[in-house]
Amino acid sequence: MSSTLSDSGNGDDWAGDRDALADILAFHLEAGVDVALGEEPVDRFAESQAARAAAPPLAAQEPPRTAGAAAAPAPPARRAPAPAPAILAPASPPPPDVAALEAREAAASAPDLDALRALLESFEGCPLKHTATRLVFADGNPSARLMLVGEAPGRDEDIEGKPFVGRSGQLLDRMLAAIGIDRTSAYIANVVPWRPPGNRTPTPQETAICLPFIRRQVELANPDFLVCLGGPSAQTLLGLREGITKARGRWVEYDTGSRVIPALATFHPAYLLRTPLGKRMAWRDMLAIEARLGEKRGST
Ligand code: URA
Repeated sequence: MSSTLSDSGNGDDWAGDRDALADILAFHLEAGVDVALGEEPVDRFAESQAARAAAPPLAAQEPPRTAGAAAAPAPPARRAPAPAPAILAPASPPPPDVAALEAREAAASAPDLDALRALLESFEGCPLKHTATRLVFADGNPSARLMLVGEAPGRDEDIEGKPFVGRSGQLLDRMLAAIGIDRTSAYIANVVPWRPPGNRTPTPQETAICLPFIRRQVELANPDFLVCLGGPSAQTLLGLREGITKARGRWVEYDTGSRVIPALATFHPAYLLRTPLGKRMAWRDMLAIEARLGEKRGST
C-alpha cells in the first residue's frame, strides 16, 4: 500500500486512502471488532473452500458384492459425506448443551484453583475463547474472606489477563479502599472468563457454559461473603430475577456446594460511572459489606 502511495507522490492519493481506511475501521468498530487477533488477515472462506475442494466428491469404491449377487443391479452411487473441513475444527466448539455438560464435568474434577484455571485454559467448549486474547481467571487473594464476581472481562482485562483493571476496575478499587479493602483482602473474578467481542453481553448459552466453572471457583476459594457486581452476575449466581435496582443491598444465601454463605448484589462499577446517582446506594452496600466483615468469623 505505501509503495503505491509514495510512488505516486500525489498527496490526494493519501487523502483518498486515508478516508477509505477510516471507513473500513469505522465499519469494523460498528461490527464489534476492536482488537486484532493476529498480525496477518486470514481468509476463512478461501480456507473452507480449499478444504471442500480437497474432499473426495463421490464414493470412489463400488459397494462390496456378496456371493451370488453378481446379477443384481448396482445400487445408485451415493455421494460420500464430505469430511468436516479440518481448518474449521478448532473454531467449531461442541453444541452448547454438550459444552455445558463438559464444563460441569471438567469443573467438578478440579481439586483446587490452579487446576481449575488449567482446565479452563484447555477447555474448548466456549466460543468466546477463540475471539478473546486470553483467559481472565481472577485477581486478588484467593484466601480472602470476600469474593466479588462481575459479568465478563472488557478490553483492558482482555489485554492484561486480570479482572477489573480498566476504568470500572479503578472505581471498584476506590470503593473497596473506602472500606479498607484492597486486592490483598479480596478475590475477584467474572461469571464469564473470556471477553465477548466488542464488549457485547454474553449470550445465555455462553453464560450457561461458563457457569459451572465460576461456581466451582467460588466453592474452591471458599469465601465467607460473595458480592455480585451488577444484574447479570446477580441473576446468574444468585438467581435474583428483579432488576439490580431492586435486588441490590439485600443479603441472600448462596450455596457454594460445600456450605451456605451470605451473598449480596450491588451495582456494577461501570453502571456507577454512567449513573453517578447510584453511588449513594452503592455506598450503603459497601458499608453493609464492611459491617459483615467486621462480624466474628465464626458467626457466618
Ligand atoms: N466488567 C466486568 O464485569 N468484569 C471485568 O473484569 C471488567 C469489567
